[in-house]
Amino acid sequence: MGTERLNRPTRAKTTGRRAENRRKTECLRGGPTPIVAIMTQPRVLVTGSAGHLGDALSRVLRGRGYPVTGLDVLDSPSTTVTGSITDRELVRSCLDGVSAVLHTATLHKPHVGSHSQQDFLDTNVTGTHLLAEEAAAAGVGSFVFTSSTSAFGRALTPAAGQPAAWITEDVAPVPRNIYGVTKTAAENLCEIIQRDRGLPVVVLRTARFFPEPDDTDDVRQAYDDGNIKANEYLYRRVDLQDVADAHLLAMERAPQIGFGRYIVSATTPFTRDDLGELRTAAPDVVGRLFPDYEAEYRRRGWRMFPGLGRVYVNAKARDELGWAPRYDFRHVLDALREDRDFRSPLAVAVGAKGYHAESTGVYTVR
Ligand SMILES: NC(=O)c1ccc[n+]([C@@H]2O[C@H](COP(=O)([O-])OP(=O)(O)OC[C@H]3O[C@@H](n4cnc5c(N)ncnc54)[C@H](O)[C@@H]3O)[C@@H](O)[C@H]2O)c1
Repeated sequence: MGTERLNRPTRAKTTGRRAENRRKTECLRGGPTPIVAIMTQPRVLVTGSAGHLGDALSRVLRGRGYPVTGLDVLDSPSTTVTGSITDRELVRSCLDGVSAVLHTATLHKPHVGSHSQQDFLDTNVTGTHLLAEEAAAAGVGSFVFTSSTSAFGRALTPAAGQPAAWITEDVAPVPRNIYGVTKTAAENLCEIIQRDRGLPVVVLRTARFFPEPDDTDDVRQAYDDGNIKANEYLYRRVDLQDVADAHLLAMERAPQIGFGRYIVSATTPFTRDDLGELRTAAPDVVGRLFPDYEAEYRRRGWRMFPGLGRVYVNAKARDELGWAPRYDFRHVLDALREDRDFRSPLAVAVGAKGYHAESTGVYTVR
């Protein structure tokens, strides 16, 4: 699909656009629905539409009948406007007639070594701030910001001898790098814009869903890629389909929520009582909870990690967003037993895109 530059609205058009966006927001949240709105779903702006998540969201939204504007610096089948979220005039034009924004565009962890801190500030902080400001000005009814569990940073690694960390939304972030710093700052800017200007905002602190190989050399060398990802569903991974579902629910519920921050990760089988043993003897805990896991892992020559340092808890997202993630460690084991792919069809369809235009080690070509 080619790219198209949308017509830039005039200032005079902006007031009418605001009223139109508010009307469409009613439709988004299932409120009073004028006849004309019944015929069309409200338009959604997806930023980062060439990326893993942006592409997935564009596919799911279009499948449900939503018109989608896909904005990315990279052209792609899901991108309808090629340009940057830091271009205010372009962003303004992209918001024309839009009722909801799903903001996934980012520089992230794989870019820490290849991009400057200023690049991170420009895209993640200035870009998000500008986008949220313009969304508020346009009367957008729902703004979903994809953040990351990386925002928790050093809080994810307890001191030696301590139990594994139980990570809920109440844990204070201690960012570890420029990615975490900028994601946390962008979350806080969104919160201010919600408070000061009434833009409904939901922040989703999302766990890892990338299909690319692990970013840690010794982990990658010690375990099969499938083994690593299967293990991670116990405490720190989530399937792309479940991430997309959480975004759509957040989009629908943002007007009632006002501002909310949620962890989006597969449902963990662990409880707080497991945390001490998890740190030093994870295979014992997993064996008790899943008596069939050892035989399946043995059949494949796979191993559980000896100890786990943190557990992401998704209870708040399930309770308040009505999110019901389907891809957890039980699902993984059942799929493995039947020699099926444990990824969702959406994750398989989107596949691996890489994170750089040139080879930079494990994160290669886009
Ligand atoms: N991939 C993961 O495992 C993971 C884990 C936790 C959180 N997240 C979050 O999920 C979101 C999506 O991640 P992803 O893996 O799909 O990322 P991705 O790199 O595949 O996609 C991000 C897209 O944003 C685009 N982009 C970058 N700068 C831009 C700009 N200035 N203007 C417009 N577009 C720009 C990129 O070209 C890219 O297509 C991100 O916000 C990320 O922080 C991802």
